[in-house]
Amino acid sequence: MNKNPVRDLNSDIDHVLIDETALEMRIQEMAAEITADYEGIEDLLLICVLKGGYIFLSDLSRAIERPHAIDFMGISSYGSGTRSSGAVQIIMDLKEPIVGRHVLIVEDIIDSGRTLDYMRRNLLARSPASLRICTLLNKPSRREIDVHVEYIGFNIPDEFVVGYGLDFDEIYRNLPYIAVLKPEVFAHLQA
Ligand code: IMP
Ligand code: MG
Repeated sequence: MNKNPVRDLNSDIDHVLIDETALEMRIQEMAAEITADYEGIEDLLLICVLKGGYIFLSDLSRAIERPHAIDFMGISSYGSGTRSSGAVQIIMDLKEPIVGRHVLIVEDIIDSGRTLDYMRRNLLARSPASLRICTLLNKPSRREIDVHVEYIGFNIPDEFVVGYGLDFDEIYRNLPYIAVLKPEVFAHLQA
């Protein structure tokens, strides 16, 4: 349930970090790289990390010029605040086995690295033919666990961002750009 149904999303924004045009251009570039790298591969499977990855997956998938399947995995590592709780949990598992398949994880953002480190180890144990990671955003300054990421859209500073799938307290995912919220928004929602 939207706790603030009359909230004006745009007036909560302090500044836009990555606008729609920049997102679109970079995602086209990433998709072209993936299309080239997976030449000749028949069994490509994109695994979207829910919830934050859903918009990125939808744009990336349409720009990749290779046949591929998609599946979803629900992972939870955050409470309702802006810092990871550190405990990663699978809240919805894949529909299909991935043994022998070429898997590309599609994630919104890598922060501490805990989520993707957990996912990489969990999925590797299921014997895929290959496993790579594609993230739209990367906060290198916040890394606690070193995770190898093959495709990175944008490196961003240590600021909490929303939009294009990313939320604060489940809101703002539908903004078409990546933005930083006004400080008072955190105070308001966490009160
Ligand atoms: P990690 O496990 O610390 O790498 O965190 C990864 C997850 O935390 C991401 O998949 C996001 O769901 C969430 N997250 C990290 N930073 C942000 C942010 O700036 N805005 C919104 N969600 C974030
Ligand atoms: Mg995520």
